[in-house]
Amino acid sequence: MSGDLLAVSDLHVAYADNRAVVDSIRPGHPDDWLIVAGDVGETFAHVTETLELLRDRFARVVWTPGNHELWTPEHDPVTLRGEERYLALVAECRRLDVLTPEDEYPLWTGTGGPVRVAPLFTLYDYSWRAPGTHTKEESLAAAHAAGVVCTDEFFLHPEPYATRDDWCRARVAGTERRLAALDPGVPTVLINHHPLRREPTEIMWYPEFAQWCGTDLTADWHTRFRAAVVVYGHLHIPRTTEYDGVRFEEVSLGYPREWRARVNGTPQPVRKVLTVR
Ligand SMILES: [Fe+2]
Ligand SMILES: [Fe+2]
Repeated sequence: MSGDLLAVSDLHVAYADNRAVVDSIRPGHPDDWLIVAGDVGETFAHVTETLELLRDRFARVVWTPGNHELWTPEHDPVTLRGEERYLALVAECRRLDVLTPEDEYPLWTGTGGPVRVAPLFTLYDYSWRAPGTHTKEESLAAAHAAGVVCTDEFFLHPEPYATRDDWCRARVAGTERRLAALDPGVPTVLINHHPLRREPTEIMWYPEFAQWCGTDLTADWHTRFRAAVVVYGHLHIPRTTEYDGVRFEEVSLGYPREWRARVNGTPQPVRKVLTVR
């Protein structure tokens, strides 16, 4: 098989300008796969319609949820909350033939392969605390005092878990078991909306926001689970970094005002994840 493994995240299709960017996303080769690393949109229909459109174009689409997909916005006719909403999105993806974190991790055998492509969904647990704070409560209080509070606090409901951090810990435990059971002879591409390590958040304008960006529980997954590359989004700071010799790719498009400020305002939404090894 030839073709490329491509990735994008944070399409935020509620913005008409971003929908125009999505319309421009095409495979360069009929065998290309597209990774969509979360924050497609806020409403249920926006998410499923966009994935359907991309699935019609790419040989395979691999999706993992962002925090925005998990919101229950007041204007959305789909009123499901928390895990039920996530599982309803997974069911829609199965109907559309889009792979999710609930499916068997597929093997990529095109350019840069073979690699096991693993879409993950691990959320956050408030362990990336605001500067000078030592508990979740102190960290949240610091964020409120700074006026930097993630909208998840109002729209991302954790049911049936008591808290978002409980949901995170359950996701981490289940995902860790699956990753540990993979063939140790095959490298992985780990895909998660939130970064697996804290360092990428250190250049954010508001350090208080990091508590909604990930968890310390995944800090060694890139080495433990043999990642050839880690793909993430959420920060809206597209760039390439390296930790312990493993490449991390932030592949977000972001909001129109953000992508207009980059590269002469021309969005280059899709990134090649692997090259020939
Ligand atoms: Fe986003
Ligand atoms: Fe996000």
